[in-house]
Amino acid sequence: MRYFSPLTLSARIAHERLIRMCFIDYDREMALVVDREDPATGALAIVAVGRLIKLYAKPEAEYAGLIGDQFQGHGPGTEVLRRLVRAARDEGLRRIVPETLPENRGMQRVFEKLGFRLRRRFSEGIVLADIEL
Ligand SMILES: CC(C)(COP(=O)(O)OP(=O)(O)OC[C@H]1O[C@@H](n2cnc3c(N)ncnc32)[C@H](O)[C@@H]1OP(=O)(O)O)[C@@H](O)C(=O)NCCC(=O)NCCS
Repeated sequence: MRYFSPLTLSARIAHERLIRMCFIDYDREMALVVDREDPATGALAIVAVGRLIKLYAKPEAEYAGLIGDQFQGHGPGTEVLRRLVRAARDEGLRRIVPETLPENRGMQRVFEKLGFRLRRRFSEGIVLADIEL
């Protein structure tokens, strides 16, 4: 659901890609993560991430998010996006324009809850979301 089609593990953990994911260019991107402390060991683990990526030459951004399977449906997706919308507004962006798959009802529900408008684009098999900031 995150990448619209399966991405192999080797592609996902390629060194160059992980560097790009971890050391972001804050002029172009903002990423928020949710971490959780294991009550037994005290170890911290990232359980969710959301990111905004500015579009080229426009005051607009895309959004991408991923919540760990066992934490989905408990609100982190909504909270991460809510905070990113605030960050985008503070940054002076005018719109957030994510795309998702028609079958991704969970993502669409999160968009709706936060005031995004949804439009189905049948020819491309995607749903376009957008919110004016
Ligand atoms: C989509 C995703 C980001 C949502 O995050 P989340 O933490 O699970 O979402 P929340 O718990 O904040 O809210 C989910 C809402 O969607 C609803 N929902 C979940 N699955 C649903 C479904 N299949 N149909 C309808 N509504 C659904 C929930 O009921 C909830 O709405 P409610 O508060 O009115 O009850 C998360 O599920 C995810 O990471 N999915 C896999 C990756 C992905 O799809 N990323 C987005 C790519 S565009």
